Amino acid sequence: MGKGPFTGIKVLDFTQFEAGTACTETLAWLGAEVWKVERPTTGELGRHSVANPDKDSVGFVIMNMNKKSITCNLKSAEGMAVIKRLVEKADVVVENMGPGSIERLGLGYEDCKKINDKIIFASIKGFALDSPYANYPAFDPIATHTGGLVAATGLPEQPIKAGVSVADSGSGIICAMSIAAALYQRETQGVGQRIDVAMQDFIIGLSRAGWEPFYDTGKPPRRVGNGMPLEDVGPSNTYPCKPFGPNDYVHIYCSRHPGSKQFENLCRIIGREDLLSDERFSTPRSRFEYRHILDPIIAEWTSRHEKKEAMDILAQNDIPAGALLDTADITNDPQYLERGMIVEVEHKELGKLKIPGFAPRMSENHVEYKVSPALGENNDEIYRGILGLTDEEMEKLKNAKVI
Ligand SMILES: CC(C)(COP(=O)(O)OP(=O)(O)OC[C@H]1O[C@@H](n2cnc3c(N)ncnc32)[C@H](O)[C@@H]1OP(=O)(O)O)[C@@H](O)C(=O)NCCC(=O)NCCS
Repeated sequence: MGKGPFTGIKVLDFTQFEAGTACTETLAWLGAEVWKVERPTTGELGRHSVANPDKDSVGFVIMNMNKKSITCNLKSAEGMAVIKRLVEKADVVVENMGPGSIERLGLGYEDCKKINDKIIFASIKGFALDSPYANYPAFDPIATHTGGLVAATGLPEQPIKAGVSVADSGSGIICAMSIAAALYQRETQGVGQRIDVAMQDFIIGLSRAGWEPFYDTGKPPRRVGNGMPLEDVGPSNTYPCKPFGPNDYVHIYCSRHPGSKQFENLCRIIGREDLLSDERFSTPRSRFEYRHILDPIIAEWTSRHEKKEAMDILAQNDIPAGALLDTADITNDPQYLERGMIVEVEHKELGKLKIPGFAPRMSENHVEYKVSPALGENNDEIYRGILGLTDEEMEKLKNAKVI
C-alpha cells in the first residue's frame, strides 16, 4: 500500500451539508488528515435528517468518510483560542458557512493568514463575493437554477432540476482540485492563498455545452427531455425495456458526426436494414424530423429485451447505449463492490452500509475507507496529541461545554 499524495497535509474543516464536506472528503481520500470541527452535543447540521433525528444520517456518513471529528463551540473565547492554535498547525482551512459567518467568528482568511501566512483558505458560497447576490444563502437547487442548468433540463413546458446535488458535490470537488493546485503553488512559489468557489459560477461552467445552441440559434438551449440538447439530431432517446418497471429503460444516442457508422449498426442490430435506404432517415437531422416514426421502431426492439441486455447487445456493436441504472441496481450488482466503486462500511448506529467510494484510480493512491467519525471521536487525539492540552485543560473545556 502506497501513501496517498496528500499524506502529511492537515485540513481544518468547518464544512457542513454536502458542498464543503465533499471537498474535504476528496482531500481525505487523497491522503490528507482532515480535522472536522463540529458544535458540541449537536454536531454538524447535516448529521441529522428529519427521517432519523436521533442517529447520524446516511447522507452524513457518505459525505464524511475518512475524517476525524473534534467538537468546539466557536462562539466561545476558549473555543476560538484552541481552534486558532490548530490554524497554526494546518495547511488548509475549508468552510461553507453562510455569507459572512466565518468572518464574524474571527476566522476569515485575513484572520487565519495572520496566524499562518502560508495557509490555503477555501470558501464555498452560493454566489461570488463580488456578485450582487453575495449575501444570499444557497442550497444546491438555487445554484442549478441560477447557473443555466435547470433552464436546459426537462420538458419544453416544464423545467426540471437534477435529481442529485450536482452543484453541491461538484463545487466541493472543484474546490478540492483548486486546493491541490494551491498546495503545488505553495511548494513551488512559497505562497498560501485564498480560494473562493461560488456554486452558481461552478454551474455556469458546468453548463458550458449550452452556449453552442445559444450561438447556433440565438436562443437559450431548448429543453428536449431525453433528446440531444446541442442540436436537432436523432436517434437520441430513452426507450422502454422489459419488464417495464419505472426504471426499465435504455438510452440510445447515435453520433451526429459525418462518417459515423452507429446508425447503420443500430439498423442492422434491430433487424431493420431497410431503414438505411429510406430517405426520411438519411441524415441525423432527418432522423430527428421523423422521430415519431423512428422512435417507435427502436422501442419495438428495446421492448423485447431487459435494459442491461439491451445495453450489452448495442454497445458491443458500437452503438452508444446506457441502461437506466438506479441506486438499487448499482448497489446490488457485485461488480461495483468488487472493483471498489461501492464500498462497505460498518457504522455503530446504522450497521453495514454499501455506499459510493472515490472514482479516480491512481497507482500511488490506495484509499482505505473508514466510516465517518462519531461526534468528537478524535477530541483526545487532536487536542492532546496535536496541541498538547493537559488532562486539566481538557476537563475545563468539557465542563464549560466548549468541546
Ligand atoms: C447552506 C446554508 C444556506 C445554511 O444556512 P444556515 O442553516 O443558516 O447555516 P449558516 O451556515 O448560515 O450558519 C451557521 C451558524 O452556525 C455557526 N456555527 C457553525 N459552526 C459552529 C460551531 N462549531 N460553534 C458555534 N457556532 C457555529 C456559524 O457561526 C453561524 O452563525 P451565524 O449565523 O451567527 O453567523 C448556508 O450555510 C450557506 O449559504 N452556505 C454557503 C453555500 C453552501 O455551501 N450551500 C450548500 C450546502 S450543501
